[in-house]
Amino acid sequence: MSEEPAKTVYDELIASPRVLLGPGPSEANARVLKAMTTPMLGYLDAEFVQIMDDTVGLLRRVFGTENSLTLPVSGTGTAGMEAALTNVIEPGDSVVVGVKGYFGERIADIAARCGGVVTRVEAEWGTHIPAEKIAEAVTKVSTPKLVALVHGETSTGILQPLRDAVEIAHQNGALFLADCVTSLGGQPVEMDALGIDIAYSCTQKCLAGPPGLSPISFSERAVEVIRNRKTPIQSFYLDMTLLENYWHGEKRSYHHTVSMSLIYALREALRVVLEEGLDTRYERHEHNARALLAGAKAIGLQPAAEEGYRAPMLTTLRIPDGIDDTIIRQGLITDYGIEIGAGLGIFAGKAWRIGLMGESSNQRNVMLVLNALEKLLIASGHKVEQGTAVHAASQVY
Ligand SMILES: Cc1ncc(COP(=O)(O)O)c(C=O)c1O
Repeated sequence: MSEEPAKTVYDELIASPRVLLGPGPSEANARVLKAMTTPMLGYLDAEFVQIMDDTVGLLRRVFGTENSLTLPVSGTGTAGMEAALTNVIEPGDSVVVGVKGYFGERIADIAARCGGVVTRVEAEWGTHIPAEKIAEAVTKVSTPKLVALVHGETSTGILQPLRDAVEIAHQNGALFLADCVTSLGGQPVEMDALGIDIAYSCTQKCLAGPPGLSPISFSERAVEVIRNRKTPIQSFYLDMTLLENYWHGEKRSYHHTVSMSLIYALREALRVVLEEGLDTRYERHEHNARALLAGAKAIGLQPAAEEGYRAPMLTTLRIPDGIDDTIIRQGLITDYGIEIGAGLGIFAGKAWRIGLMGESSNQRNVMLVLNALEKLLIASGHKVEQGTAVHAASQVY
């Protein structure tokens, strides 16, 4: 009898369907996935160059800017963060970073790796950073080069106000940077109206695309700072002066092979965003977040983020005493195919993060997750009447 031949290939890739209600990735729009199946073009093919130009034009509208240096860098949101900081900071520069959660920490870490002398302005997790605190820190630094804040802090669910902080930075001669990884496409960013000098984002949250690109934009003032550097930009891959030649130069020149598929995806994602309309899209995010919170509160799940500063795309809920974080999240996946986020950093085991981002922000998902959470909580001994959460949420709709 001959032996069965060793299996040399795996089965065809089939992923289980999931309702993505975590901190990202969120659900990708179907038109975006379809655009990704478009055949490859050469990275300097005139047709592809036109697609790049279209994408940049659409991006400017979503960022609310006319900044010339606007493009998607290869890599996820962290690549945008690295690009922003590596291009602007030189060794010895003073950088003021707002730290009120995990991603503010990451900015402070990368700024220090760039040789920046970092001053941290901290606020308790789950709260925003008041403008007075930022002013106090910035004025203490003799020549601040950059003030950096996370707009939507995904670890805590706080939406940080930016307007006053931008003014404080400019009055003190510094550039202002906003991490808009979670906010872009879900809440207004309005770079030019607010005077934000550098903003970056990602494609996998409120833009409803796959992960892999980080849209970024630099004001003229920020570009001046980059042009006047005394030391070379440490990163070749993220050097904005080289990327600028490829994306915007009169004679486009090769820098690295970009992902055509991801750029097709981003172009389509931005078309979807603008077809819906920015204001309508922001209102949709707010409406669904209100319904989610109403349902959650009705079954005793309290918000972990300060009232008045809650990011509609990411709701953090405190885990009630006696409830096992892992059992509930595992039950959501195995019984309902729903992913929500675990707490990060000091919120680990203490809070859940429910994302209603981009395509995922809809009434069906709000009702699904509330119903499933309620059933699992009841099975864990939480005292609440079946149907309470969905009923409370339906009052909002
Ligand atoms: C506010 C914020 N900044 C930066 C990042 C890093 O982005 P990525 O994971 O896409 O590299 C994230 C990711 O969730 C984020 O939420």
